[in-house]
Amino acid sequence: MAEKVNKVITKDDKNKLKNIDIYSEGLKYLMNTYSRLPVVFEKAAMQYLWDVEGKKYTDFTSGYGCLNVGHSNKEVISALKNQISKIIQPSNIYFSQPQVKLAKLLCSLTAGFGEKVFFANSGTEAIEGAIKLARKYSTDKYGKKRYEIISFYNSFHGRTLGALSATAQTKKQSPFEPLLQGFRYASLNDMDSVKNEVNDKTCAILIEPVQGEGGINVTDKKFMKELRDLCTEKDILLVLDEIQTGFGRTGKLFAYENYNIIPDIMVVAKSLGGGMPIGAIISNDKISAAFSPGTHGSTFGGNAASCAAGVAVLEYFKKHDIIEASNKQGIYFLSELNNLKDRYENLIKEVRGMGLMLAVEFKYPVADEIVKFGLKNFFVLNKVSDFTIRFLPPLIIERKDIKNLMVFLNKTLKGFDKNAKSKKN
Ligand SMILES: Cc1ncc(COP(=O)(O)O)c(C=O)c1O
Repeated sequence: MAEKVNKVITKDDKNKLKNIDIYSEGLKYLMNTYSRLPVVFEKAAMQYLWDVEGKKYTDFTSGYGCLNVGHSNKEVISALKNQISKIIQPSNIYFSQPQVKLAKLLCSLTAGFGEKVFFANSGTEAIEGAIKLARKYSTDKYGKKRYEIISFYNSFHGRTLGALSATAQTKKQSPFEPLLQGFRYASLNDMDSVKNEVNDKTCAILIEPVQGEGGINVTDKKFMKELRDLCTEKDILLVLDEIQTGFGRTGKLFAYENYNIIPDIMVVAKSLGGGMPIGAIISNDKISAAFSPGTHGSTFGGNAASCAAGVAVLEYFKKHDIIEASNKQGIYFLSELNNLKDRYENLIKEVRGMGLMLAVEFKYPVADEIVKFGLKNFFVLNKVSDFTIRFLPPLIIERKDIKNLMVFLNKTLKGFDKNAKSKKN
């Protein structure tokens, strides 16, 4: 004990304790719902993060796709500061200026179907609202029996019970059964499997244009068009979950623009708030009319602070043309990942994605090791399964950041390759 007290504690040692201390206390006091890593970030700017020991990291996750305009974007901070010094939460019995402004902006950006918006606090909450809207619209129009929703295997729509019922992943659903009734599941990019599930009770089809948590599985253009046609023919609502694909992530402001279709209802969240919690349901006047006072609501949904941040995010997109720039980085990133695949074809099974929503699937369960090793080398990475790493960098990522990551990945995979070869011999 005495020895410990007398030990000279260097500045480095002292600092080092901070990450671990906070991490250990976190483990003690927070429910164990995430596999947390032992680094605590205290500062961020655009694509970079600093931990409490002052070490700088490059972010390839955007906080699960929330920071498309970068961490603590100065224009978002300024709008937020300005708003919170005036009013944060006027209550939803009253409109607030930022709320109306953001709704108007979202409608103008979704011309063709966007005429009304409902604001929630998160993605899952917005999905809950969209489920209610689709059911209410269909019930009002056709009678009580039209309430079923078709979603897709490997999808992810959120953790609340309605959204979880749409999330067709047994591992996530089974501990919480019984789930909300009225969900059917089809296979992505398989029209026959969709047609098998459609019946006269179907009110909506819910789909992510690119499945995010499910492993970056891209919906085919032909399939999306056929889904749209089927929905139009049978008066089924096509509900797009653009919570992860929205706001420039796939090379367009919204992923549906890549498909030449329009949805009936679109759900967005994550990066709309530039780091602030927000979610939104967007639809046309006719469908939105199913909601009337008392049918749906949220105390905090669309609070003035989150909406002011949302306005700043959309203005930032317009002012800085970041989609154009991010497209270039997306093409470069994808080609570099494909080069990696050519170099390590015995390790990498597939590279896939759209825009800056990319993934590498390995032939072996090495994703966890790469994420942990990445953090030690100051890269913030994310795995969506034991085999797959997902890349969702802030859209303002620069070529030099991608180059640095490639040096790291190359070195790491070379190590794996050597080990695999020596095991074989
Ligand atoms: C496509 C999609 N839908 C819904 C959600 C749930 O959003 P939230 O975590 O904000 O509730 C997510 C979150 O990752 C998502 O990626």
